[in-house]
Amino acid sequence: MQNFSFQNPVKILFGKGQIANIRSEIPTDARLLLVYGGGSIKQNGVYKQVMDALQGLYIEEFAGIEPNPHYETCMRAVDVIRRKELNFVLAVGGGSVIDAVKFIVAATFVQDADPWDIIAKRLPVTAALPFGTVLTLPATGSEMNAGAVITRNADKSKLSFMSDKVYPRFSVLDPETTFSLPAKQIANGVVDAFVHVAEQYLTYPVGGALLQDYFAESILKTLILEGPKALEHPLDYEVRSNLMWASTWALNGWIGCGVASDWATHAIGHELTALFGLDHGQTLAIVLPGVLHVLREQKREKLFRLGEQVFGIYNNMSADERIAYTIEAVEQFFKQMGVATRLSDYGLGAEAVEAVAQRLSERGWKLGERHNITADVVREILMLRL
Ligand code: NZQ
Ligand code: ZN
Repeated sequence: MQNFSFQNPVKILFGKGQIANIRSEIPTDARLLLVYGGGSIKQNGVYKQVMDALQGLYIEEFAGIEPNPHYETCMRAVDVIRRKELNFVLAVGGGSVIDAVKFIVAATFVQDADPWDIIAKRLPVTAALPFGTVLTLPATGSEMNAGAVITRNADKSKLSFMSDKVYPRFSVLDPETTFSLPAKQIANGVVDAFVHVAEQYLTYPVGGALLQDYFAESILKTLILEGPKALEHPLDYEVRSNLMWASTWALNGWIGCGVASDWATHAIGHELTALFGLDHGQTLAIVLPGVLHVLREQKREKLFRLGEQVFGIYNNMSADERIAYTIEAVEQFFKQMGVATRLSDYGLGAEAVEAVAQRLSERGWKLGERHNITADVVREILMLRL
């Protein structure tokens, strides 16, 4: 295993009715900004639960964080915080709301620079307001990690940043809050969590990381078993619990300790979202099978492991067949969840491939666990996904 140092400070409040307990996690003299999205929390009762729990606190509200949250919107929230001298933030929603809040709490302290530089120029985050989250969509793991992805609408760039300063103080994971999710969001979430595991597991063996491998496989098996059930029985609390906890674990840092990681599928997917508006999960379902196919030699050992441990594909066929069947099984699972896996399913063709390759070429990135996925390789990957 590679050397690592890692600490995850996020307190988790898991289960039914846990929103009622957030008050004891927030300082009594807090001047709080409640941040949420387009209003789903008003329809499913989560907003009311939060307001009941926060009774007596000074609260300002900031609504309208969009999916794939915009830098421009975040900066309006920063303005409210500064004007009203607020000192605690509560994010209530999916990954977009939580990511927006991570940027907001960091940007509040950027005085003499452009806050976008936190993302564009890796400007170190020196301070951030404390914040908590109430998660309503299992997918991103943002509730228990220190990363965020923000889109600058002005030039359609979708980029990420990480900082230990933006770990949530606490996150409430009440599976009942996910009962109201539309099927599309359930499916996107399952695909996203699946691909988070893939990015940290489907690389190459480092030796001595057996626990991370077994953890990763357990998360994948849970998603494969429970994802389709959530579509069929949306009000099944146990199914929702399994999905919520599995999605958190897919990206709370633990399975990535001491192992190589890829993240090419995400980087390519972010460009597809930024340029063409596809949902995050939709982009991943298109890109991952292509990455696995083109990089199949480099990922060979881990693809064998995935086939055996997760899909029951054993050594009774040729190595090439095992790999092909394994990649096929991944794609079939995405389809089973109702997520399309081809660019053409969204009306995109070779011009879209060129636009993404062009952008990544301009960025000069070399993606993947071996830093060998250049813009040309991206083009090759995406041409397979037309
Ligand atoms: O805005 P509202 O009205 O709340 O509606 C949302 C939104 O339209 C809705 N929704 C959320 N919870 C609901 C609900 N509808 C009904 N019932 C509920 N309980 O779902 C829609 C999508 O929400 P969003 O937050 O955008 O989805 P998700 O959680 O998938 O987040 C996606 C964002 O996270 C980033 C993605 O790039 C994307 O911007 N990611 C963040 C990561 C991280 N911080 O570690 C890692 C991921 O790889 C990902 O990149
Ligand atoms: Zn993701």
